[in-house]
Amino acid sequence: MSDKAKAEVEPEVNDPGQFLRTYGPATVEWAASYLDRVGSLPVLTQLEPGELTARLPAAAPEQGESFDAVLRDLDEVLMPGITHWQHPRYFAYFPAATSGPAILADMLASTINSIGFLWRSAPAATELEGVVMSWVAELFGLPAGWHGHIEGGASLASLTVAIAARESTGRNLLVCSQETHSSAAKAARMLGMELRTVPCDEDGAMRVDALGPLDGAAIVIATVGTTSRGAIDPLAAIADACEAAGAWLHVDAAYAGTAMVCPELRWAFDGIERADSVLVNAHKWMLTPIDCTMLWTARGDVFRNAFSMVPEYLRTPSLEDSWSLHEYGPALGTRFRSLKLWAVLRCYGREGLQRHVRSGVEMAAEFERWVVADPDWELASLRRFGLICFRHRGDDNFNKTLLERVNASGEIFISHTVIDGRYALRLATGGLLTTSADMEQTWAVLREAAAALSS
Ligand SMILES: Cc1ncc(COP(=O)(O)O)c(C=O)c1O
Repeated sequence: MSDKAKAEVEPEVNDPGQFLRTYGPATVEWAASYLDRVGSLPVLTQLEPGELTARLPAAAPEQGESFDAVLRDLDEVLMPGITHWQHPRYFAYFPAATSGPAILADMLASTINSIGFLWRSAPAATELEGVVMSWVAELFGLPAGWHGHIEGGASLASLTVAIAARESTGRNLLVCSQETHSSAAKAARMLGMELRTVPCDEDGAMRVDALGPLDGAAIVIATVGTTSRGAIDPLAAIADACEAAGAWLHVDAAYAGTAMVCPELRWAFDGIERADSVLVNAHKWMLTPIDCTMLWTARGDVFRNAFSMVPEYLRTPSLEDSWSLHEYGPALGTRFRSLKLWAVLRCYGREGLQRHVRSGVEMAAEFERWVVADPDWELASLRRFGLICFRHRGDDNFNKTLLERVNASGEIFISHTVIDGRYALRLATGGLLTTSADMEQTWAVLREAAAALSS
């Protein structure tokens, strides 16, 4: 194709400033109107696996197309295949609430696209990451002076911690509970570590009396806010056992950690200040899009020993070396992830984040009251934070069918778990757009579906 013809097809693609000016307004408008109307879309995709692939061309185009065509196909082809995590009645798994400041900042991070491994490769990204991590530590009431950095996910963060713990203790046993997220067992498997799974009490908390001897343990992973039912492991007692045995204590607060911003919810984290490391997913309840796992450690030196590997081509003057992000985890290059978190902290402030957490907890508490007050329904476990596990008094099959029906309706999306061998429905609040009216509608959808199934 001649240069002239090419310029007519795609005049701006190699001129990013012009490209953004041309297509940016329509793209931002797409994003804004998506968030305005997301509540009117079916929350769970109505497509079957593979349908979307069949609708897409088998190969990339030979010639560049207009970005308008990309936006059009986003609407026409991809949209039916989207499960809408920002939908106000999305209650499955855990929330992944995004927010205006974070969306814009994430776009800016992709614009700057600095790769943070050395201080000089990304000075602002490197220093801002340290600053926001200490801001959040202060908001959460965590000890001052911990080293904080951002990892790509909680699973990766726990893997990273397990490597550091093994390095520092010289031991090869990873201890967690029956309720610990599967990322712990996966880390043990990937690292060839031995795994010990500790039984839980009736509320799903790790039984300290059943921890067993920890002399050979490299690491104990305790959780505040387990994935299945939000259970709270007794951190202080586990810290006693770890301290006595010289084992590393890692706290996985991927979901619930954001609640530390509210002093009245900090009781659940009692003892966390004695941990060797703590992770919280800002990309769950903290209004920041994936990926943004905040990982703090009291043992920054151990991380550096475990992960620092500086080849000649990455050597810089020693003053700069002390800021190198890549020396604290497995990755070399990382995105400017702190920018979106910084934007959230700036635009919401402590009070805005507290309001968000409190409203999710209050909505869940109200839902819990409805369940308790209705003789056809029961709680399957204690409500923790914004997570409720409940069931209809029908049997497991009844509840399974009920879940399928309500999710197929497109009006709500909830998930399930199994507690003490029995099937339970699982609803987690925390979306930015969820209102009390959405909770009422959700309860109505569930009750009507149950009534229809019973008749
Ligand atoms: C307690 C807990 N830990 C770890 C994870 C894994 O998170 P990620 O997807 O960031 O790896 C989850 C996911 O829901 C979780 O609930």
